Amino acid sequence: MRLLGIETSCDETAAAIVDRDDLSGHGAILSNVVRSQLEEHAPYGGVVPELAARAHVSHLDHIIGRAAEEAGVRLAELDGIAATAGPGLIGGVLVGLTTAKALAAALGKPLLAINHLEAHALTARLTDGLEFPYLLLLVSGGHSQFVLVKDVGAYERWGTTIDDALGEAFDKVAKLLGLGVPGGPEVERRATAGDPRRFRLPRPLLKEDRLDFSFSGLKTAVRLAAEDIAPLSEQDVADICASFQLAVTDIVTTRARAALARFRVALAGVPPTLVVAGGVAANRAIGAGLRAVTDALDARLVVPPIPLCTDNGVMVAWAGAERLALGQADDLTVAAKARWPLDSADMGLGHAD
Ligand code: KG4
Ligand code: ZN
Repeated sequence: MRLLGIETSCDETAAAIVDRDDLSGHGAILSNVVRSQLEEHAPYGGVVPELAARAHVSHLDHIIGRAAEEAGVRLAELDGIAATAGPGLIGGVLVGLTTAKALAAALGKPLLAINHLEAHALTARLTDGLEFPYLLLLVSGGHSQFVLVKDVGAYERWGTTIDDALGEAFDKVAKLLGLGVPGGPEVERRATAGDPRRFRLPRPLLKEDRLDFSFSGLKTAVRLAAEDIAPLSEQDVADICASFQLAVTDIVTTRARAALARFRVALAGVPPTLVVAGGVAANRAIGAGLRAVTDALDARLVVPPIPLCTDNGVMVAWAGAERLALGQADDLTVAAKARWPLDSADMGLGHAD
């Protein structure tokens, strides 16, 4: 089974072609083309939805062409067309989904309208051949969630952020310190030269017995600390970055420990596996913290290769292949959705072909 996957829900225009072997369920990546819009949005310090949609329109055809060419596949040879149908910036989602509908109609192939979070959630099955169930920690610019992945289309959200996403918090801290975009890698780079104990920053919600996150109070504390000692020297900036990174690492690892404990109770007898996805998975301090937690709890930690943790077409094609293999497909009238929670009644229901 060979699928094209299209991703346009944020600031990456991406297309990829993936094979899935029907007998083994294993996958292979034939091509993976990603065009980042970082430069278009850089002058504005964040993603501008209207600009993003226009850039997707300008580049998507070419990106799909390259994905086909690099895979050595003609579009007529595909078994299905998958595209992110939400959640995300609605203008961009419409560009990708409409293109997928046109291709599906013209080629007479099934359309798979994919939930972007589901695509992140299923990637580790392609990269590591994981079996269900497992626990997903999705930490990106738009999401911070724990999700129990039970089966294709069967997800339970165990915790989410009540304000900013973790990547967003990194980006906002970078912005208030006058660092470049994307903020996360820059904060991590500065933190390596800093003293993580210099500033005592809060760990919001940590005393509460829940799996949710809150990062906006932490961001405010960073702003106040910075204002307190302005003007900032290079060392001040490094110390703030290191202190912030330590605080979020504490928060994420404490939550991961609690989530894995819940996994053990809820799924007695199943060896716990924690999968990390999203751009923040690239952060080495957080990664090392999660490694320590999983080692201590005798759990498995799976981090797919970083280019497959950030937004890409491979994950969309793969989620499409997993659903198509179960006989599912979507109608050409399916709507793009700005909001689409992973555990909504929509998932895995009403998708009969
Ligand atoms: O998954 P992603 O590429 O895009 C979506 O948000 O969907 O994630 C991007 C986010 C940005 O907020 C970026 O600052 C953050 O991931 N990020 C990092 C690192 N690399 C990327 N945050 C912390 N440390 C990093 N090394
Ligand atoms: Zn994403």
